[in-house]
Amino acid sequence: MGLNLRGADAVVTGASSGIGAAVAHRLAARGCRVVLVGRDRQRLQRAADGCAGAPLCADVTEDTGFRAVAAAASRADVLVHCAGAGFAGDFAAMPPDRVAALTELDLTAPLRLTRAALPGMLQRGRGHLVFISSVAALGVPDEEVYSAAKAGLRTFAAAVDRRCARGGVSVTTVLPGAVRTPFFAGRGRAYDRRFPRMVEPEAVATAAVRAVERGRREVFVPRWLVVADRVRGAAPRLYQWLAGEFG
Ligand SMILES: NC(=O)c1ccc[n+]([C@@H]2O[C@H](COP(=O)([O-])OP(=O)(O)OC[C@H]3O[C@@H](n4cnc5c(N)ncnc54)[C@H](OP(=O)(O)O)[C@@H]3O)[C@@H](O)[C@H]2O)c1
Repeated sequence: MGLNLRGADAVVTGASSGIGAAVAHRLAARGCRVVLVGRDRQRLQRAADGCAGAPLCADVTEDTGFRAVAAAASRADVLVHCAGAGFAGDFAAMPPDRVAALTELDLTAPLRLTRAALPGMLQRGRGHLVFISSVAALGVPDEEVYSAAKAGLRTFAAAVDRRCARGGVSVTTVLPGAVRTPFFAGRGRAYDRRFPRMVEPEAVATAAVRAVERGRREVFVPRWLVVADRVRGAAPRLYQWLAGEFG
């Protein structure tokens, strides 16, 4: 079920940068009032100024910040879970506190925020949840924890979808490939593959917002990445071989 965005209230986490900032701008261009969430006050203010949105400076993994975002989410028609970070490197050497922090940011915080937003959406019989997962949800070597968190997000979205649909609330999972943002600096390894080619954050934002308006459950960006998902489902051994050959 698609949502008319004109006059809708949206909350976007991770909106101070990259994909989240682009989604916030796109939602505003479609007529939403947008609350932008991030931790870097200056970057957040710039992103908010660019779309006449309201900045909410908060860390979603910390108590006070979480409560502030949860309060905003409980009033929202659209909640976009975009705050996230990666880690690339040897899993056996990954610091345990980094395992916990990544899981908290990429998986637990979106689950808890959904828990905060859903009762209001179901009561009003209107709402849309957007999860920015990743093609890494299919499983990427050297990004095991990130892959698990993004797969968890995708599975959670699919599981909560039925309950949502009964109450007039829709769910979209977005699975981007490589996107040109500061994400790669944060994960500790630059993007060094020729394939798939990087896309711009605006391409992800356009696909995500279109999916909200058309009520789509899952979108891959670029779209052809869906082939990897289908091959993995139908022929897991072939997928493993192809992933080994082509990364
Ligand atoms: N770039 C890619 O290739 C790619 C591909 C697939 C999926 N994704 C996913 O897309 C999402 C956005 O990533 P991006 O590429 O746009 O990276 P980005 O430019 O680094 O943006 C990450 C955003 O998350 C926010 N954030 C990080 N920790 C936070 C915290 N504790 N509390 C609140 N906000 C926090 C950051 O805000 P502050 O810095 O202000 O805290 C920033 O706005 C992530 O979930 C990522 O996993 C990215």
